[in-house]
Amino acid sequence: MATSWGSLLQDEQLLEELARQAVDRALAEGVLLRTTQEPSSSDVVSYAPFTLFPSLVPSALLEQAYAVQMDFNLLVDAVSQNSAFLEQTLSSTIKMDNFTAHLFDIYKQVLGEGIAQTVFLGLNRSDYMFQRSADGSPALKQIEINTISASFGGLASRTPAVHQHVLNVLNKTKEAAKVLSNNPSKGLALGIAKAWELYGSANAQVLLIAQEKERNIFDQRAIENELLAKKIHVIRRRFEDVSEKGSLDQDRRLFMDGQEIAVVYFRDGYMPTQYSTQNWKARLLLERSCAVKCPDIATQLTGTKKVQQELSRAGVLEMLLPGQPEAVARLRATFAGLYSLDMGEEGDQAINEALAAPNRFVLKPQREGGGNNLYGEEMVQALEQLKDREERASYILMEKIEPEPFANCLLRPGSPVRVVQCISELGIFGVYVSNFCLRRQVPFSRKPCFRKVEKDQSGFFPGEEHPPFT
Ligand SMILES: Nc1ncnc2c1ncn2[C@@H]1O[C@H](COP(=O)(O)OP(=O)(O)OP(=O)(O)O)[C@@H](O)[C@H]1O
Ligand SMILES: [Mg+2]
Repeated sequence: MATSWGSLLQDEQLLEELARQAVDRALAEGVLLRTTQEPSSSDVVSYAPFTLFPSLVPSALLEQAYAVQMDFNLLVDAVSQNSAFLEQTLSSTIKMDNFTAHLFDIYKQVLGEGIAQTVFLGLNRSDYMFQRSADGSPALKQIEINTISASFGGLASRTPAVHQHVLNVLNKTKEAAKVLSNNPSKGLALGIAKAWELYGSANAQVLLIAQEKERNIFDQRAIENELLAKKIHVIRRRFEDVSEKGSLDQDRRLFMDGQEIAVVYFRDGYMPTQYSTQNWKARLLLERSCAVKCPDIATQLTGTKKVQQELSRAGVLEMLLPGQPEAVARLRATFAGLYSLDMGEEGDQAINEALAAPNRFVLKPQREGGGNNLYGEEMVQALEQLKDREERASYILMEKIEPEPFANCLLRPGSPVRVVQCISELGIFGVYVSNFCLRRQVPFSRKPCFRKVEKDQSGFFPGEEHPPFT
């Protein structure tokens, strides 16, 4: 399963020349990030970290990941419509986790008032690693599904050309032809366009909720550009702008600077630090509106680690997707072990198992944006502190997936070219639009697209502070 670029990786001079070519091609293709020094300006930009060589994905696992994506779309949609399930699942978490509690509070307010939104749009990304099973064959194991601000669809659309370039420089034309084309930003834009169309107001625009300091703007622009080509205009505003200039009319139509909004696409609002009191008010205003939110608050809650853990409990998938045993089997085949840490015997047992074999588990809080999970000794210390406290319910435990490492070069600005051991993670984007009146997904489905990233074994690009991207 591991990729081997053999003797190529021994030749330092060749690697340096290839890296120069790859970086120039990445810049030319638009695999770009703003810099940490100037995150609000595009005056100075650099390339986003990437691998010199592409990594192999077993074709059977890629097909499996494509096939199960439709099931995940249906599942996320079903959970987001099931208020009893969300309430029961998150009841212990919201007592101990302020951020989830705040989101849930908005959810309850909107439910109480009555949901004005009738069209729902999911732009989700399901992330996987490949783990060797007992029989030696590679298995697809889900890390999690991201239901808000799932990123890198834009940049991932441009990386195949870079990898093809590197292989063509090496005269490896057969291998270059095997690098699959990839265009998630087109699929994501098609989803937004369909939601915009179903909203049904020709002059309405798309509102992208943006961060002030946004290094990953080119990823977002790729989607904006696709929409503009369809004559759908996108305006970028911060939560602060919404609180100052956003309003609802008597039908709860959303207006921003006097302009009607059909779709609100969040590229902010997934981490506690992104919310001031003012921003929470803005989020509530958006949620109360009839604009299509991507995601609506219920779908954001569906993406919590706690929901992921409860979905793995026996009988839950069957309850949520009745009469669909094949979909249930496909979904379950991708699940790793997930364990509740709620107070009680079940949680006690999970903690004892993790303390006895820390290398087999990951401790996860209800957070997005990376860098929050605890492993090894850090996990042990946290569990020792948490084990008798109700606060433990704000975490879940997950089986640690162990993909096989392989050698590659991670290229990032300012770092020398060197060969390191890497692991791969595969992200599959799923796009769906559902119409509440019909209570089923409208006949719109895209072949899901994928992005692929490589990280070193710590989960980050070596030496780099993990950027808060989902
Ligand atoms: N069960 C696991 N086994 C091995 N590695 C894991 C596991 N869960 C998470 N990781 C690693 O930690 C990273 C972050 O985990 P996760 O996706 O759960 O958190 P997140 O904060 O939602 O991240 P993201 O910003 O990617 O959405 C993953 O990309 C993966 O590298
Ligand atoms: Mg995530």
